[in-house]
Amino acid sequence: MTADTIAAPRSPRTPARKSGPNLEKWGWIYMRVSGVALIILIFGHLFVNLMLGEGISGIDFAFVAGKFASPFWQWWDVLMLWLALIHGANGMRTIVNDYVTHETTRRVLVWALWLSAGFLIVLGTLVVFTFDPCLGIESSSTDWLIETCAAL
Ligand code: HEM
Repeated sequence: MTADTIAAPRSPRTPARKSGPNLEKWGWIYMRVSGVALIILIFGHLFVNLMLGEGISGIDFAFVAGKFASPFWQWWDVLMLWLALIHGANGMRTIVNDYVTHETTRRVLVWALWLSAGFLIVLGTLVVFTFDPCLGIESSSTDWLIETCAAL
């Protein structure tokens, strides 16, 4: 084994199967199904934001405000957020279970993963659905923003 090779897992965790739903199996299936959905969501997101219209130079506050005004893009972004965070946290849980030998440390890390993913999911979902470009505009704001918000 060379120095840059990742060591084989030292703590393959194989807890005795209990009755009830096989969560490991559903987690395995989730990684594949969410992976396929994420290809569409992530590359669709990149294509629309970076290649259509003015491309990357067209991204500014107005662009984001315009997208978040549409329920279609709100749901697109929220779906991407939920699927990617649960996918990432579950993937990291697999790695932690494989490599962390100390049981208490493993438990703390897995809890920290789900807590941080849960916090970001709640925060991100709130931001997407409560985003208001006119909240707190002042006379120092750009002209188009004052005009647009005054017209609403
Ligand atoms: C293009 C979209 C994506 C696809 C198709 C995809 C696909 C997959 C698949 C099939 C696995 C399971 C691999 C295995 O069990 O051996 C996996 C694992 C994983 N994914 Fe993704 N994924 C995508 C995006 C993401 C994103 C956005 C994140 C981070 C938020 C992420 C983080 C992870 C992690 C941490 C693992 C665990 C790796 C491991 O077990 O060694 N993936 N991915």
